[in-house]
Amino acid sequence: MLGLEAIAVMDTGDQRLERVHRFFSGTGATYDWMVTVATFGIDRRWKRRMVDLIPPDSTRILDLACGTGISTLALAERYPNCHIVGVELREEYLDLARSKVQRLGCTNVELVLSRAEDYRSDEPFDCVVSSYLAKYADLKSLTHSTKGMLKTGGLLLMHDFTYPPKAYLVWLWRLYFFVLQRLGSPFFPAWCEIFYGLPVLIQESRWIPELTEALRENEFTEIRMEYLTAYGSAIVTARK
Ligand SMILES: C[S@@+](CC[C@H](N)C(=O)[O-])C[C@H]1O[C@@H](n2cnc3c(N)ncnc32)[C@H](O)[C@@H]1O
Repeated sequence: MLGLEAIAVMDTGDQRLERVHRFFSGTGATYDWMVTVATFGIDRRWKRRMVDLIPPDSTRILDLACGTGISTLALAERYPNCHIVGVELREEYLDLARSKVQRLGCTNVELVLSRAEDYRSDEPFDCVVSSYLAKYADLKSLTHSTKGMLKTGGLLLMHDFTYPPKAYLVWLWRLYFFVLQRLGSPFFPAWCEIFYGLPVLIQESRWIPELTEALRENEFTEIRMEYLTAYGSAIVTARK
């Protein structure tokens, strides 16, 4: 018989999956456009920073929650001799990534349909990255499985939104989502769940302290965190 603790863990996992499907259903076709417009192009700068932090001698990189492949293709372009594996939970987004890979003729990209926490590889990676996954994921399980897939000395890099830690920025952050909700929802009904649910999730998420704790438990070293653009997001890196 399952103990209460086990049931609670299963519920949390199911709730996470339910949230991802609820947020992203029907948004795939407009995702790339929306992420560029809604972040005023800043997402591109954040992706560039991620790519800059990858060790240049990498031969295998894993991009968890690759979505429509924005970061996967940025990695493939910067490191044409490197094998890039993109893992994504939702078929809708993965199909879009597959089309791009085909259209661009990328031969160094492999795309896999899987929950990030469940993905395993027999061949190790130099680097495991993710953008906008941390707040949806079971970070304990993800950190443990990532450790198993990284080479010794390999780099884990996680990027995600942050709730501004400065009071003077909080009102601006709230105003930004208020405008997005009021102006965006009538024109993009598929995005309503994200416009309303994302700020709540970002405010409630403890992904940085939870990830840091999981990294310490799994004996990662050189754990570093940097905020990006007005504390709008952060990158955490660590070495196995
Ligand atoms: C905001 S999108 C980001 C996609 C891409 N990383 C980017 O930066 O453009 C978040 C993606 O994470 C995926 N996702 C969320 N939780 C996941 C999980 N546990 N495993 C795999 N993918 C997940 C969602 O399906 C969605 O495609």
